[in-house]
Amino acid sequence: MALLKWFAVHGRELPWRGIGDAYGIWVSEVILQQTRIDQGTEYWLRFMERFPTVEALAAASEDEVLRLWQGLGYYSRARNMHAAARQIVAQGGFPTTIEGLRSLKGVGDYTAAAVGSMAFGLPAAAVDGNVYRVLARHYGIDVPINTTRGKHTFEALAQELLPHDRPSEFNQAMMDFGATWCTPRAPRCMDCPVAVTCEALRSGRVEKLPVKEKKMKIQERRFSYIYVRHDGKTALRRRPAGDIWQGLWEPLFIEGCPLPDLGCPLTLLAHDVKHVLTHRVLLADFFLAEPESKPILPAAYQWVDEQDIDNYALPRLVEKLIAMLKNRKRPHDDEDRS
Ligand code: ADE
Repeated sequence: MALLKWFAVHGRELPWRGIGDAYGIWVSEVILQQTRIDQGTEYWLRFMERFPTVEALAAASEDEVLRLWQGLGYYSRARNMHAAARQIVAQGGFPTTIEGLRSLKGVGDYTAAAVGSMAFGLPAAAVDGNVYRVLARHYGIDVPINTTRGKHTFEALAQELLPHDRPSEFNQAMMDFGATWCTPRAPRCMDCPVAVTCEALRSGRVEKLPVKEKKMKIQERRFSYIYVRHDGKTALRRRPAGDIWQGLWEPLFIEGCPLPDLGCPLTLLAHDVKHVLTHRVLLADFFLAEPESKPILPAAYQWVDEQDIDNYALPRLVEKLIAMLKNRKRPHDDEDRS
């Protein structure tokens, strides 16, 4: 098969390839779900060093897992992975069937097929965004890929094409080919190993495929954060369930109501800091408050030593605030002391 030959020459060298360890492969798949491969590789190496086995991950606290995940975003991935590690340990080892893998928290069809094929040689096609694109172009299919019908169409086709004796190579060949050759923009059709049978190329639709149904409207939210500083301490709370960033820590958070009176002026550090998530755009104002006496805050907030703030898992947006505070010039920094 032309694509497997291509893979033997052009396949990417990735540290979890060929390790045969279901745990390491699974961690890589979870990380790569929404992360570029170079950043993902860095995190994978760090993660595997700190948690080399599923038992080590299961034994860790959720906070520590989140801290190591910090910066990758989509924190439910880390929470689910941690919960799944505990499931795996409780059931005495890694499941070795697609159904068993699928029963783990956070593991869907794609991840079950990816881990099952790469770790256990199970004949399951793993269909990620790259695979959708390669198939849509090669077979000239214009069913929108972000619909149930699209999912079924492309999964059935990939499954039909999968050589049962080489599922791991096939899946990875499709992903690598989509990621490096049959790319969204400027694909390498001129030296494509399957150009002669590519329907999109024949019919001049390479740029038009795959088709996506129009996205839903992006919601905008306005946040204010007040970093309250008193006596070397600052107030943080853990974000509650039912909203973004569940379980991460944040300073005094205000949305949809006036700023509170903390008994001192608020210093505006930044206005309309834009932070883009999948279905939302956040616009945040950052303030600093340095009251003389300790203000009374809602019960969820805890006073923590400012120098310990790096030990808390923070959303990226809050990290921006902390970075601004650290870089802020003190009023006397510009004074000429000569
Ligand atoms: N993206 C996610 N998993 C991958 C893998 N195993 N190979 C290449 N790209 C990937």
